[in-house]
Amino acid sequence: MSPKQDLPPWPFVPSGRTVEIARSEGCFLYTKDGHAILDASGGAIVANIGHGRQEVVEAVARSMAEKNYIVPPFATDDRLGLVERLQKKWLPKHLPRVHLSSGGSEAVDVALRLARLYHVNRGEPSRYKIIGRDISYHGTTVACLSVSGHDSRRAGLEPMWNQVPLAPTPYPLRHHERGGGDCGGACAQALEEIIIAEGPETVAAVIGEPIIGSSGGAIVPPDNYWPKVQEICKRYGLLLIADEVMTGFGRTGKRFGSEHWDIKADIMVSGKGLTAGYAPLVGVYATDEIVDVLVENNQSLMFYTYGGQSSACAASNAVLDIMEREKLVDRVQEMAPVLERHLNRLAQHPHVAEIRGRGFLWSLEIVKDRETLERFAPEDNITNRIVGAGMANGAFFYPGGTGPVRDIITLGPPYIIAEEEIDQMVTILETSIDQALAKAH
Ligand SMILES: Cc1ncc(COP(=O)(O)O)c(C=O)c1O
Repeated sequence: MSPKQDLPPWPFVPSGRTVEIARSEGCFLYTKDGHAILDASGGAIVANIGHGRQEVVEAVARSMAEKNYIVPPFATDDRLGLVERLQKKWLPKHLPRVHLSSGGSEAVDVALRLARLYHVNRGEPSRYKIIGRDISYHGTTVACLSVSGHDSRRAGLEPMWNQVPLAPTPYPLRHHERGGGDCGGACAQALEEIIIAEGPETVAAVIGEPIIGSSGGAIVPPDNYWPKVQEICKRYGLLLIADEVMTGFGRTGKRFGSEHWDIKADIMVSGKGLTAGYAPLVGVYATDEIVDVLVENNQSLMFYTYGGQSSACAASNAVLDIMEREKLVDRVQEMAPVLERHLNRLAQHPHVAEIRGRGFLWSLEIVKDRETLERFAPEDNITNRIVGAGMANGAFFYPGGTGPVRDIITLGPPYIIAEEEIDQMVTILETSIDQALAKAH
């Protein structure tokens, strides 16, 4: 059968015009015809150390020339070097065990399996439910979507998983739409009510992003929320899984987002910043206790063929060398107020409801009316219009939002961004919002 449409070769399901990038350097992408695009979101909040760092390229080439593929259970110098470095310099001390996957979804899937297998092997096989939250994204495998509160990515797939309810994610800007009051306390209490309704003896774990990524637009929860969730998990014998795929490795101004509160997840997943886009590698980090239970019961955890690819570990070692040498987590912390100050130029914009975030992860929520917080209609397609205008004006902003959170523009620039580039980024953002909204009116 001949195709109904004349489809471009990429991507799989095309939508709009495909942009072709020829090369990338520092904070910029360059199209084939030489048009420069400021990578305001580091792609999908990934390119933390900037583009074109030759020492990473050389480390990958060296590793690949030595050994192209070594099955994951075997050790290599790159794998051992990375695990030791993570244990010594990066991971919270209570999470020393490292599993390596090649993507965030794969890694979250490991975390879900791990939580289940831990309970099975310690003699509580009734615990299998994982409770996610209603504004969240944990990846795109069927299992990951089953715990994600991302309506558009879940749509059509819902019958494929167990129907475990999602707990409310704190969303302070619109908490009044849920009755108002203590946002963090109410959301933690609602989680507890779900656990009780489901039967605590059937629940294995709770999963959440410490600070929501682009699905909710960098929502920072109230300070009382995570400590209460941790306490509830402990009380009912559940594991707490922190999904730090986006927030890990300095993005929010600390090594990991959970460090903003006094919480200790039992399992943490973190990756984008582990290789900053130079290779596919994401880690799952667990306590000794969890792994002890598996070892005692002879329980294996199947690897992914490309998990912990040795050259990806070499890339990660080189990326973390740069992060450590250039003190980039400290830089994020120091420069965050500068980024915030520039973004605040938009604080009085009639269509900006809120500018929120932490460190170098920031989002703007765009609304029709900032007094009433009325949203634009989905058909107005505001997010895509702004992102499209941004591209035409020379910057890539990350589109986000889902369900009740509409029209989110996220910024997650490389940690090396200069103040002049921040200024340029915010100027382009302002122009792009105005152009997109002028067309929408
Ligand atoms: C918090 C979080 N978890 C999981 C994922 C899925 O990662 P991947 O796209 O590498 O599968 C993402 C991706 O953006 C994410 O932000």
